[in-house]
Amino acid sequence: MFVSARSFEEYRAMFSLTDRDLSLRILDCPGGAAGFVAGAGERGIDAVAVDPVYGSDRERLGELTLKENEHKHQELLERREDFVWTWFDGPEQYTRSRSRAARAFAADIGKRSERYVAGSLPRLPFAERSFDLVLSSHLLFSYGRQLSEDFHRRSLLELVRVSRWQVRLYPLFLHADTRRYPALDRMRAMLAGYGVTSRVERVEYAFFRGEPEALILECAERSALPKDEPEPVADTGSHDPVRWRHLESPARSGGLP
Ligand SMILES: C[S@@+](CC[C@H](N)C(=O)[O-])C[C@H]1O[C@@H](n2cnc3c(N)ncnc32)[C@H](O)[C@@H]1O
Repeated sequence: MFVSARSFEEYRAMFSLTDRDLSLRILDCPGGAAGFVAGAGERGIDAVAVDPVYGSDRERLGELTLKENEHKHQELLERREDFVWTWFDGPEQYTRSRSRAARAFAADIGKRSERYVAGSLPRLPFAERSFDLVLSSHLLFSYGRQLSEDFHRRSLLELVRVSRWQVRLYPLFLHADTRRYPALDRMRAMLAGYGVTSRVERVEYAFFRGEPEALILECAERSALPKDEPEPVADTGSHDPVRWRHLESPARSGGLP
């Protein structure tokens, strides 16, 4: 699992956020080192991020992400043709934008610490319906090979639980692949059983080669959700440790940004 730093503008495009959407109370889960909450704060938008890394690497996260961006830059130059250059016009703009987002994140977490909450799916430290809109990028579905289907089921229900209106997720394809997460239809059927309708929408943001699609979950009319289930005794499919490639030996450092 990598920690990334997408910008406020990337979030706006990934989730087709309108001015009306941005007038709502928003949760970014997982926030990573993204610049969304920082950008929201500058614009007077009420947003909060949650991520397990805010518990341990909080102070060093901005610096680690900047180093990671430098490391990734070389890989982007070497593998330029593996990515879609419509949103970014090339590796230089990509690295500049991601580093700006990481710096905005580092400054904001220093100043508005309460906006960055340590917590992990599938159990978030928020009351039911605490946010109007929940955004989730590059965790569920993306890491569908590493995280189990049960983890996805519980996590989707948890995101729905803390939302009053909608949950939006992007992308729907597996990391380093162009295929959709294989259990997507099962997840949508499971959610429909709780009165959560869903639809797939194309968005104006692409970087990886899969289809640029987001999943929108409508939560307002949902029925009661299942009560907390006990954690499985040895759920190896619910954790994928964070990796910092710039700290690894060259032999292991391959992968995608
Ligand atoms: C690829 S990053 C995406 C960050 C951000 N959404 C972005 O697009 O820049 C994935 C993030 O998921 C976080 N993560 C890992 N396991 C998690 C869990 N169980 N619950 C919530 N977040 C988790 C990691 O710490 C990491 O910051």
